[in-house]
Amino acid sequence: MTIGNDLFQGEFKENPMSNAEIINQRRIINGLDDGLMQASPLKHPWARDIFKKMQKNNWVAEEIQFQRDYEQWSNNELSETEKRAFERALAFASNLDGLLTKTLSELIKPNITSPEVCLALSRQIYEEALHVDSYSCMIEALGFDAEQIYGMYRRDQTLFYKNKTVLASVAKLGKPGFKTGTLENDKLFLEGCVTNLIFEGIFFYSAFLIFYVLGRHNKMPGSREMIQFINRDEDLHVALFVNIINTIKEEQPELWTEEVQQSFVQNIKNAIDMEVEWGLSCIGEGILGLTPVNLKQYLQFIGDLRLSAIGLPRVWKTTNPFPWLDEMTQGNMIEVNFFEGKVREYQTGTLEW
Ligand SMILES: [Fe+2]
Ligand SMILES: [Fe+2]
Repeated sequence: MTIGNDLFQGEFKENPMSNAEIINQRRIINGLDDGLMQASPLKHPWARDIFKKMQKNNWVAEEIQFQRDYEQWSNNELSETEKRAFERALAFASNLDGLLTKTLSELIKPNITSPEVCLALSRQIYEEALHVDSYSCMIEALGFDAEQIYGMYRRDQTLFYKNKTVLASVAKLGKPGFKTGTLENDKLFLEGCVTNLIFEGIFFYSAFLIFYVLGRHNKMPGSREMIQFINRDEDLHVALFVNIINTIKEEQPELWTEEVQQSFVQNIKNAIDMEVEWGLSCIGEGILGLTPVNLKQYLQFIGDLRLSAIGLPRVWKTTNPFPWLDEMTQGNMIEVNFFEGKVREYQTGTLEW
């Protein structure tokens, strides 16, 4: 990909285009891009809004206390089934954040021609790296054998196939020389964005739920808190991709055919089936009130949320069987820490040298 290839060709010749004309030709993909990242004024103001919200969500894993988690784990305060669910949730979530760090930077961002969307994506990529780091801090703090978590996919058939399917679903954008600008490739790119929405908006959700169910019973409270931070970040990642998808639909309506819409509904249905299967492999017959039945219902509820967010019809029409989850996940910007009774509102601090 050539940066600035549209306006920096050949020798200097005075260009009569105004700033407004250049900005008005911005598109999410295939837009006019001088490569200089002018982020104001904007064609896609929602992207900068999301970027500003992301800037407020600062945190690092070192802020989280894992002492209680370590004690609970070592003193066998968790049942074997709960431990198994925890380890499996951690294994896949850490695998997926690693994958996202790479796919966003190497497959998605190189095709984006809107500077403000690149701004938000750059922050998102940093946050995925932060998540990768935070899982390793968690694994160290809990005294886990890294092989047990990171190596799980080499011993566990279900995890192997889940990772394999996840990787295969982004392979189309990874073909050498892939470039947007043709109808076929633009459809593939849009499909790639929906795939990313599936990664961030569906495939984390069994894992998040397991950490929250344990946390609700005061088990592994530090881990639950870390997942709240990660989930808060992921909420904005989902918002960013919903906006990317919906704006590409507006800018290139020829991509949004009946056939494409049906294929995306099918992709989301397949993703929910896969996530249900994975969730069941984590919880077995159930832990702490989380059962195969309500796990499935919850994931289908999440699937409908993602479908309707991108203008597709809901499939399952179920309700959220865990209304208490709202207390842990709503109010994205302000999180009440139940155990310390203080409001956590992270703002970018002033520079101190
Ligand atoms: Fe992440
Ligand atoms: Fe994410």
